[in-house]
Amino acid sequence: MTASPYRPMLLRLDSSARTEGSHSRQLADQIEAHWRARHPDGRVQRRDLATEAPPHIDAQTIAGFYTPPEQLSPALRAATARSDASIAELKVATTLLIASPMYNFSVPSPLKAWIDQVVRAGHTFTLEGGRPRGLVERPSAVLALTYGLPGYGDQLATLDHLRPYLQSVLNFIGIRDIQVVSTEGTAADPAQLAGIPAAVKERIDSLFSEPVTT
Ligand SMILES: Cc1cc2nc3c(=O)[nH]c(=O)nc-3n(C[C@H](O)[C@H](O)[C@H](O)COP(=O)(O)O)c2cc1C
Repeated sequence: MTASPYRPMLLRLDSSARTEGSHSRQLADQIEAHWRARHPDGRVQRRDLATEAPPHIDAQTIAGFYTPPEQLSPALRAATARSDASIAELKVATTLLIASPMYNFSVPSPLKAWIDQVVRAGHTFTLEGGRPRGLVERPSAVLALTYGLPGYGDQLATLDHLRPYLQSVLNFIGIRDIQVVSTEGTAADPAQLAGIPAAVKERIDSLFSEPVTT
């Protein structure tokens, strides 16, 4: 592995509506602590998408996305300012940590709102002869996912629109090194609130050594 010329930066996104007793936040805390231990010189930027939700993109935002920069009016510039800032933050990160519970088989809506702000033609992806190419080259990603029901690796696999969706959309914008840490059955087993299962802890301990491309 070649040394990164960049100061390590972890961009952590939380999205559970619960700020107390949240399994996904607990997982992300462990992953962040492990990352900090591996990167003592690193910087952590946290964004709590649940308590400070990104605005939904609207007609003005979309008009701004498709207007050449030199033609942006002050109103369109304002409508795309949040997208500009979120993309800039994503592009300077060396690790992106997304903590997400499954809500109705997919991501919580504030996380979807963040995705809608950052997946943007000419900024995070481009089309070359009709083929998409991602423009976000720097961060690797870790997904900390929690599922209320057990069985998404098995009988509920077709209902998992959380992990495959996040992997696809991150791949689309160029992030290919993605690792997943997940727990299932959190709704059925309140005892899990007492702590993170040993197998998941082992998985966390294995992170940030070698890149894995999905
Ligand atoms: C609004 C809502 C929708 C949910 N939808 C699902 C679901 O579709 N499938 C599932 O397995 N669990 C579902 N759950 C359970 C959560 O995924 C589970 O409790 C998870 O641990 C919540 O994350 P948190 O502990 O970080 O808050 C849902 C929970 C809530 C609050």
